[in-house]
Amino acid sequence: MIAIFLGAPGVGKGTQAAAAAESQGWTHLSTGDLLRQEVGAGTDLGLKAKEYMDRGDLVPDDVMVGMVATRVESMSADEVLLLDGFPRTLAQAEALHEAAPEGAIGLAVCFTASDETLVERLLGRGRTDDTREVVEHRLTVYRETTEPLVDFYKDLGMLREINAEREIKIIQSDTVEIIQAGLAHTNPQGANG
Ligand code: AP5
Ligand code: MG
Repeated sequence: MIAIFLGAPGVGKGTQAAAAAESQGWTHLSTGDLLRQEVGAGTDLGLKAKEYMDRGDLVPDDVMVGMVATRVESMSADEVLLLDGFPRTLAQAEALHEAAPEGAIGLAVCFTASDETLVERLLGRGRTDDTREVVEHRLTVYRETTEPLVDFYKDLGMLREINAEREIKIIQSDTVEIIQAGLAHTNPQGANG
């Protein structure tokens, strides 16, 4: 099953996905981390992506879909894949539906926090794209381009919302519980943990 982690920059998608993957034996796939690996390795893709990332703009859809599609197409029936930071546009969401095995997309977990909290967390973290100017631009890009996905998944009946304004551990238990409930629903024969 695929669980999509939706939410603004700094809301804690990466923190929550990493912890859930670690404790439950699930797979964490972060497109931001994959891109940063490419940048670090100095590949052509990395060099191209870096320009967008440094500005806080989205890397073009064809590059992102290419990165995720093969992985999703080859997922196994009992795998739980946490997609952190993908999809981020309607075109990516549609491409994901095409690539994923029939019925594999289980839910979209949307994490929410105030802009004030997001900015404070990102400026406290200090990644190279965590300057005030770039953070503000990433938030604008999120509102304009990614937030419409919340309604997209709500209309599909797949949306679950989590208040991410709380302690990391409390958010984590909600996150795991919601995904386990999704698993029980897609596989009633018993893959619930
Ligand atoms: P990406 O790496 O995905 O960055 P992002 O969306 O901006 O999100 P962040 O990683 O900044 O936030 P997060 O929600 O993971 O929060 P975190 O857990 O780190 O993308 C980077 C760039 O790559 C994009 O700008 C774009 O250019 C490109 N890109 C990636 N995917 C793409 C795609 N699909 N299409 C196009 N382009 C793409 O937490 C943040 C901080 O808060 C941490 O310090 C953490 O310790 C702290 N924290 C977390 N939870 C809590 C809590 N509950 N209480 C207190 N502190 C907390
Ligand atoms: Mg992240």
